[in-house]
Formats: sequence, structure tokens, C-alpha cells
Amino acid sequence: MMRMPNLPTVAIVGATGAVGREMITILESRGFPLRSLRLFASPRSVGSRIAFAGGDIACETLDHGMPEKVDLAFFSAGKSISKEWAPKFRDAGALVVDNSSAFRADSSCPLVVPEVNAHALDAIDRPTIIANPNCSTIIALVAVTPLHRAIGVERMVAATYQAASGAGAAAMAELESQARAFAAGTTMDTTIFGRQYLFNVFSHNSAIGADGSNEEERKLLTETQRIWGSTAVRVSATCVRVPTLRAHAEAIHLEFARATTEEEIRALLAHAPGVTVIDDRVQNRFPEPLMAAGGDDILVGRIRMDRSVVGDRGAALFVCGDQIRKGAALNAIQIAEHFLPQTVADNPA
Ligand SMILES: NC(=O)c1ccc[n+]([C@@H]2O[C@H](COP(=O)([O-])OP(=O)(O)OC[C@H]3O[C@@H](n4cnc5c(N)ncnc54)[C@H](OP(=O)(O)O)[C@@H]3O)[C@@H](O)[C@H]2O)c1
Repeated sequence: MMRMPNLPTVAIVGATGAVGREMITILESRGFPLRSLRLFASPRSVGSRIAFAGGDIACETLDHGMPEKVDLAFFSAGKSISKEWAPKFRDAGALVVDNSSAFRADSSCPLVVPEVNAHALDAIDRPTIIANPNCSTIIALVAVTPLHRAIGVERMVAATYQAASGAGAAAMAELESQARAFAAGTTMDTTIFGRQYLFNVFSHNSAIGADGSNEEERKLLTETQRIWGSTAVRVSATCVRVPTLRAHAEAIHLEFARATTEEEIRALLAHAPGVTVIDDRVQNRFPEPLMAAGGDDILVGRIRMDRSVVGDRGAALFVCGDQIRKGAALNAIQIAEHFLPQTVADNPA
């Protein structure tokens, strides 16, 4: 397997965005070893400086061509920037982890959630573009994969409740501004979604296809099948935006290949990597976006059998995960950590 240098030169493209800023915070808090960090954003951000490791780093633009030697590049500047620039970074020798959807369906680019299919990274022996899955897919699969491995998921039906931050820093700012406008009794800015978001719920803002599904719903199907390496699983989703700032929630109904019990599901989730179970029926305390925001784990609760599936083969869960962290920035950095030299990975700073 390919290994990076002990102290790689790291670049973040999209450093001023919701995901980019989170990656900078996580690199620092996890003591990710690096020689230097290069931060790239649009020409709008030229002159901006971002705090890192006791100093600050000036943002650069990509207009001046390829930067000199970069060992590891994280991309979070949207699909078109990734399509244009990620191959250039790879061809110049960088391992690339891309947060956009640009390479998720490309069979030469592994699509990875480390808790689920880290083995897909082991075959990489040269600079490659690795795709981070869609945030709703990551959140669902961290929780559901341990059940799939043990009991076999034949069908998954998910309803998502997606936060503003999933649409980027500007969407988060618009929801906050609508709250201020409501309190002040002034007109709300509706630039991002073209409608009032505060006190509202609406269909996910991705393109609707000919079959009536939006892109986010289709990603849950195609990416789950790719990550599990099987087209046998059937997935149906309804994805909506809710006026939370950060952390997505998902109601997930599962149909298994064989009969199971609530006890078996609880036991599997109790030991699942990246999962924290919050399931207190007495106190009515279950996962909430505010509990998940800022954390690394996917919170899982409302664990119960789904009696609409015959033969004890159905179960239902409610999950929450910080989609800027585990749904994007943290997942990308966990992928990169896989390529650190073994001695460094075992003894982080
Ligand atoms: N937000 C999430 O929860 C989430 C989850 C999973 C995946 N993603 C994906 O991650 C990517 C970034 O999302 P985000 O939410 O962080 O978006 P965002 O907050 O809107 O940030 C976009 C970033 O891209 C930069 N950018 C725009 N044009 C550029 C250019 N020409 N050259 C270099 N940088 C440019 C922006 O710089 P300026 O500040 O200078 O404009 C900003 O740093 C998207 O592909 C998104 O689909 C996001």
C-alpha cells in the first residue's frame, strides 16, 4: 500500500468553506503530522488568513497553476473545481481525497467510509483520487453496516432531515439571518434556497430526475450499493431540508434477510465503530442534531422492530450525525490517516 512521507505537504482546496474550515480544525485537533499546509479558495478570499497551529495561513488561488510538490490534497470546493483540478494534483504526485460528487461513480476512484470499507484503500499503490461519499450515505452506513454484515440488509428505506450547513457556509448564514430578520420583523433574505427556510421543511435542493427522485435520494442508492459491493440491496429515500443549522438526522427502516431481535440489533450497535447509542425510552431521550453537532460519532436510537415487515425481519432506527464532520471533513481525514507511515499513525502527536 502507498504511504505518504512522515511529514507530508498538505493542501486544502475550498479552505474557507464549511467543510474546509472543519478540516483545518480537525487536522489540528488530531495532531495530523504535516510539513506545511497550503490553503486555496476563490479569488474572493485572496488576502484572508486562517488560523492554524498557533499562526495563520494566507489563502491562495489556483489561478497561478499547480502549486509545487503537494503530497496530500483535500478538495471541498464543489464538483466543477474538483473535476478540473483534482486530476492535476494527482498527476503531480498528490494523494487526493475529494468531498464533492465528481468522482463517486468513477470505478478508478475508491469510494470509502473507513469504518465500512477501509480495505478498498489497501490496493492503492500510487497517487489516486479517493472519493468521500455523500454525507447522508456516510451517516446511514456507519450505523447500518454492522447490521448488514451480521443479518444482511435486503432493503433500506430512509427519510432524511438535513441541516442548512449541508448546503455550505452561505446556507447556514442565510438561516441565521432569517432568524434575526424574523425577530426584528424585517424581510428575510432568501437568496440560497429561494424560499423561507426558517420554520419550514422542503424537498432537498438537488436536481429532480425523470423518475421524480432527487439527486440526494439517488446517491443513497447508488453509493450504498457501491460501498457494500452489491447491487442486491434495495434503497428508497426521501430527502428534505429542515431548519437545523448543523447535523443531519435520518429515520431508517431496514428489512433483513433473516429474522432478528431487538437484542441482537442492540448488541451489534453497542460495539459498532463510530457509533454511540442514545436510546432512553424512559426519559424520551434519543439522538438529536444538537447532540450530534461538533461530535465525531453517529448517534443511533429509537431502536425497535418494524412489525410492518413479516417474520421478525424488520427494524427501525433514528440516527443523527454531524455531516460537516463525519459526513465530510472527518471522513476525509480518516481516509488520509490510512496512508500515514505506520510509525506516525501509531504515535500521533
Ligand atoms: N457542507 C457539507 O456538509 C458537505 C458534506 C459533504 C460534502 N460536501 C461537499 O463539499 C464541497 C464543499 O462544500 P461546503 O459546504 O464546504 O461549501 P461552501 O461552504 O460553499 O465552501 C465552498 C468553498 O469552495 C471555495 N471555492 C469556490 N470557488 C473556488 C475556486 N474557483 N477556486 C478555489 N476555491 C473555490 C470557496 O471559496 P470562497 O470562500 O473564496 O468562495 C469555499 O472555500 C461541495 O462539493 C459539497 O458538495 C459538503
